[in-house]
Amino acid sequence: MPDDTLMTKKKSVPFILLQFASCIFVTFLLSTFILLNLIPAAPQLLLDANKFSNECPAYGCIFSPKENQTVTLSSSTQFPTTSCQLGCLFTRQGPSHAVNQDRSFLIRPFLTQQQAKSTHKDESFLVAILDGHGVLGHEVAEFARTELPRIVADKLNARQCCQSDDWIQQQLKDAFAELQKYVPVHSGQRGGCTASVTLRIGEKLYFANAGDSRTILVHGKLNATVVYHTRFDKPHLPDERARIEGRGGKIHTPPQNSAMSRVIVFSKVANETIGLAMSRSVGDLEWKKIGVTAEPIVDVVPIESIDRQFLVAASDGLWDLRRMEFLARRFTNDLYEPGRDTTFAEKLPLFVDRIAPRKGYRDDISVVVVPL
Ligand SMILES: *[C@@H]1O[C@H](CO)[C@@H](O)[C@H](O)[C@H]1NC(C)=O
Ligand SMILES: *[C@@H]1O[C@H](CO)[C@@H](O)[C@H](O)[C@H]1NC(C)=O
Ligand SMILES: *[C@@H]1O[C@H](CO)[C@@H](O)[C@H](O)[C@H]1NC(C)=O
Repeated sequence: MPDDTLMTKKKSVPFILLQFASCIFVTFLLSTFILLNLIPAAPQLLLDANKFSNECPAYGCIFSPKENQTVTLSSSTQFPTTSCQLGCLFTRQGPSHAVNQDRSFLIRPFLTQQQAKSTHKDESFLVAILDGHGVLGHEVAEFARTELPRIVADKLNARQCCQSDDWIQQQLKDAFAELQKYVPVHSGQRGGCTASVTLRIGEKLYFANAGDSRTILVHGKLNATVVYHTRFDKPHLPDERARIEGRGGKIHTPPQNSAMSRVIVFSKVANETIGLAMSRSVGDLEWKKIGVTAEPIVDVVPIESIDRQFLVAASDGLWDLRRMEFLARRFTNDLYEPGRDTTFAEKLPLFVDRIAPRKGYRDDISVVVVPL
């Protein structure tokens, strides 16, 4: 075995200089390589949403509707007959609130760093309905709207992404936990919001739901059917009741209508007793110690290769007014066979106004429709 230390001592001065230079060169190459990989790939703006002007984060462009506005995401390459190929979002304020407390967003595509660099991009999106309640519920919903996409993207950017359904489900739960952890205390003591979130990665949908908003998956052309829906997390449900009462919480359930159940807390901040209409939520800090949790129920649903399928995510107003099967059938026809003059995007606000007249209906309503 030659002795390395002795051999280097024998080398001539020019040889050492050469070694030094090549060492610098390799370091330069390495650092360039690392830097190039650290700089997120420029987001691609494949979508043309109306009134879109902001810059997009690395994980994708965030689309959210403003008051009375339908945001339409379209792509000329798919389903050329409709205006809502990648998604439509609409929101409307109810007269009982000083501000619209609903928030929603759609990011499509929703890219991990790996996907952003890859030439083959799997289908992906992240969609959410966030319905605020309480005095400052809109602040909690707004916080969730701006922070949740980044938090989910950070989780999915882990090296071991996305090897199993279990792993992805856990990341969504962790993302909700992180969101809850950082809710600004001032807002979280005076309000909260639901979060009905769907992540698409390739040919799978991951539904993460906390609270009484709802997302449904609709299949079919004629007689469309609801093949999956998230649960309204209500305090009277056996698993929810067990957890909350186990933590010393009190639940009030009206005998005639258990869906109106409430988790009762004496709020120190408000100096009064308040009932919360759901058993899971983001924010609502005074309810968290008695078992109201931000942990979502996460389900995985494979996307089947059938002709027509889409998601509808909406705040509770829509679901209270019509059965989801009715909405599924109505939307199927309007989405895929629009009238000669009106597109689905134009029909959506009119449809909401018809089933929930502005004069009579008091709550905010938001609807997001996402064809798969
Ligand atoms: C939304 O539309 C309703 C009815 O057309 C109108 O009364 C209200 O002022 C609108 N709100 C905004 C912010 O434009
Ligand atoms: C749709 O439903 C109607 C009435 O329920 C039934 O007569 C018809 O055969 C159904 N069509 C399809 C394609 O399933
Ligand atoms: C809380 O409410 C009670 C009864 O309504 C009242 O007597 C008391 O002064 C209030 N406390 C504070 C700190 O406002």
